[in-house]
Amino acid sequence: MTKPVLYLIACAAGPTQYIDDGVCAAQDDGWDVCLVLSPSAARWWEPRMGELVELTGHPVRSQYKLPWESDALPKATAILVAPMSCTTLNKWGAGISDTLAIGLPSEAANMGVPVAAMPYFNQAQGAQPAVARSITALRSQGVLVLDGPDGYVSHPPKHGSPEAFPWRKALDATRRLTYRA
Ligand SMILES: Cc1cc2nc3c(=O)[nH]c(=O)nc-3n(C[C@H](O)[C@H](O)[C@H](O)COP(=O)(O)O)c2cc1C
Repeated sequence: MTKPVLYLIACAAGPTQYIDDGVCAAQDDGWDVCLVLSPSAARWWEPRMGELVELTGHPVRSQYKLPWESDALPKATAILVAPMSCTTLNKWGAGISDTLAIGLPSEAANMGVPVAAMPYFNQAQGAQPAVARSITALRSQGVLVLDGPDGYVSHPPKHGSPEAFPWRKALDATRRLTYRA
């Protein structure tokens, strides 16, 4: 039986240094994981990109394809944007999809694909008025934004623990969203 496909989309936020942990946790849950990185996140992994390709068994995409290229990844059953940076959240909320990491979930959410997103940024970034507006905009499109007690509670500046990102919470919520009756 073919496995359901999860697009795990990661931005240039602290926990992406440990994105292999997120991939493994999702694979343990039975997902065929396709990893998509923002262009900035891809720079972080550039020297070790081969490890992520081997781990997922798929190309790791970070750029829009060219017009004559065909799809490199299987169709997504569900999408989890995690960790979602403050920048990606606000661009997505404003309808700006200038990265593949935003283009995929922004269209998918309006095409009936279950989309969840767990942010990771500090309280000073989160205090910007645009953040609350962007979260409202995403939720109005049916995106499950996992912030606060049921998701990620933002940390004081300089006190993050990127290695302790709550992948389990993010994946459990994505599974519930995907398979709810
Ligand atoms: C070392 C480093 C760590 C960063 N950590 C975060 C973070 O945890 N959360 C966040 O929102 N932005 C963080 N940033 C800033 C983002 O990388 C920056 O806003 C970038 O434009 C995000 O682009 P993306 O959303 O396309 O990945 C960090 C930047 C650097 C250089």
